Amino acid sequence: MEHRPLAGRTVPVVGMGTSGTFDVPAVDEARQRVTNIALDAGATFVDSSPMYGDAERILGATLGTRRPEAIVATKIWTSDDAEAEHQIDTSLGFFGGHVEVFQVHNLVAWPTRLDQLEARRDRGQLDVVAATHWQASAFDELEQIMRSGRIGAIQVPYNPHQREVEARILPLAQDLGLGVILMRPFAAGGLVDRAPSAGELAPLAGHDVTTWPQALLKYGLSHPAVSVSIPATSRPARMAENAAAGDGPWFGPEEKAIVERLAGG
Ligand SMILES: NC(=O)c1ccc[n+]([C@@H]2O[C@H](COP(=O)([O-])OP(=O)(O)OC[C@H]3O[C@@H](n4cnc5c(N)ncnc54)[C@H](OP(=O)(O)O)[C@@H]3O)[C@@H](O)[C@H]2O)c1
Repeated sequence: MEHRPLAGRTVPVVGMGTSGTFDVPAVDEARQRVTNIALDAGATFVDSSPMYGDAERILGATLGTRRPEAIVATKIWTSDDAEAEHQIDTSLGFFGGHVEVFQVHNLVAWPTRLDQLEARRDRGQLDVVAATHWQASAFDELEQIMRSGRIGAIQVPYNPHQREVEARILPLAQDLGLGVILMRPFAAGGLVDRAPSAGELAPLAGHDVTTWPQALLKYGLSHPAVSVSIPATSRPARMAENAAAGDGPWFGPEEKAIVERLAGG
């Protein structure tokens, strides 16, 4: 598994999201195996949020005694200042009192949320303050935060159907030395509903791609600004498949164009 820089540390290029996939009432065998496989494969960067129902709690429980192996990214998501403090405390409780990357989810009340996260960082409860949004309409505001010097990383969507970040956000992240966490590599599942045939994927075989999800992961990871991609899955075999996309060779313009063509409009 290749590692890349993110705000003064290095992270594996493939990690795991938990939106939808980990929102279950109690740890079950599938979720436990997904986490075990992620950790065993070195896909140790895991992302969650209080927006994802029970996902943070379930993720923390599946990490269990292996918590120190993981790089945990979670979020605050509320317009209420007191509730934000409560969310931070709750998240810290799920992850052993420390979170590596704490993000302002969808930029909600971001000036105050950054103050709160910076205060927690000063107390040693988190390492990196970050910001995330999933919509291109918020990228002007995200750019403003990136230029503020107050964050070490951003989380944004990037896949063949969502390429808006290529124009300004990814180049700016590179210029500023900010980490980039890539969300929605499969467009929330929309790009993996139907896979191209083995023949259509054959031109990518020289790049160690055997499946369509791996082609999509390598598509995003081939942009030099991207630090880590966080595909979400509830199925253990798919976690192994996704983690296997974590090494080069990476795509050039020709291979990226093939993936865009196969992804269609
Ligand atoms: N505003 C934000 O900050 C924000 C917004 C969106 C997402 N995120 C983060 O980014 C993560 C990823 O985004 P996402 O969950 O929306 O979408 P995604 O990772 O693009 O797609 C997830 C979907 O792909 C399926 N899948 C995963 N691996 C697969 C494979 N190898 N083959 C076939 N299908 C596969 C999963 O279904 P199965 O479970 O059935 O495998 C799931 O339905 C989220 O979980 C969350 O942590 C953040």
